[in-house]
Amino acid sequence: MLVMGGSSLARSGNLRRIEDSLRAAGVKWAAFPGVPAEPTLDWVDKGRRYLRDTRAEVVLGVGGGSVLDVAKAIAFLAHEDAPTAAYHRGERDPASAGLPSICAPTTSGTGAEVTPNSVLTDTERGVKASLRGGDLTPAVALVDPELTLSCPRPQTAYSGLDAIVQALESYTSTGANPYSDALALRAFELMAPALPAAVEDGGNLEAREAMALGSVMAGLALACARLGLVHGLAHPLGHLCSLPHGLICGLLMPHVMQFNLPVAGPKYAVAARAISLPNGSDEKAAGALVDWIHDLLEEIGVARPLGECGLREADYPRIIDEALASGSTKHNARSVTADDLRSLLRSIATGKTP
Ligand SMILES: [Fe+2]
Repeated sequence: MLVMGGSSLARSGNLRRIEDSLRAAGVKWAAFPGVPAEPTLDWVDKGRRYLRDTRAEVVLGVGGGSVLDVAKAIAFLAHEDAPTAAYHRGERDPASAGLPSICAPTTSGTGAEVTPNSVLTDTERGVKASLRGGDLTPAVALVDPELTLSCPRPQTAYSGLDAIVQALESYTSTGANPYSDALALRAFELMAPALPAAVEDGGNLEAREAMALGSVMAGLALACARLGLVHGLAHPLGHLCSLPHGLICGLLMPHVMQFNLPVAGPKYAVAARAISLPNGSDEKAAGALVDWIHDLLEEIGVARPLGECGLREADYPRIIDEALASGSTKHNARSVTADDLRSLLRSIATGKTP
């Protein structure tokens, strides 16, 4: 077994626990720690070489979304010869199935333990995008809230925001259906009160459990229904601003919701009622949900104008091209044009709150 993790894998004591358990079970293993946040294609290439050297038959990823995405990609391309970039750029498809992966998240966020994609940065092209394929879905997802107890406060806030945005985006996406709706709405209902509680007290196991369940359910919902414009913009903006993915998603959410209101309003109203926001017309309830997101950002201490990250007019064409090409944007509740994106980016850059 190839055991992969970030820098916290050894520090948290998890590596030792895993090794003890593998030793007891008579499983041979090799460790590959130190996977960075925002992993690059080079990292996957390095891991694939290591996998080949160790002749491992299964890949275990224990960590946040970045670690899980690298573990999945390495297992997926285990029997391939070309550089990872060829698959990431869509020039090649794997000729055969790879190795199984097992994913154990230590944050409650991306839902990468149940999704068929792996988000990687191509430094040569300056593009952050997903490698996709049904075989990327891990064979086993081990979702244990106790693994998230040591997740630091900022990462708890960022990853939790990602999960909440993913629940709402998959709930309102054009790919939504009754099955994904059931998962997405319940995920949102579980996480809405739990996120502030988990940020305030990381040792609150009840809140951690609600977040762990909600994030995996939101992951299942998005694997089926896809996402929306927040995620279409989060990749190009994240690459430009070097802010954590979940934080960007949270900060973009009110802007995109405001844009989506004419189409997604009725569903926002259902989500608002699910968490007992002031009732009334659909319009009022949907507006209350946008306000609730604003308040949540304040409450967990991450609110700030996205304009501060140095978004310049000269960057717009590139961001717009990337956002329009994104599968997430294509599944956004309301269809999006280049002009829509330009005015949205302008309101974001000037720090105008919707
Ligand atoms: Fe996300």
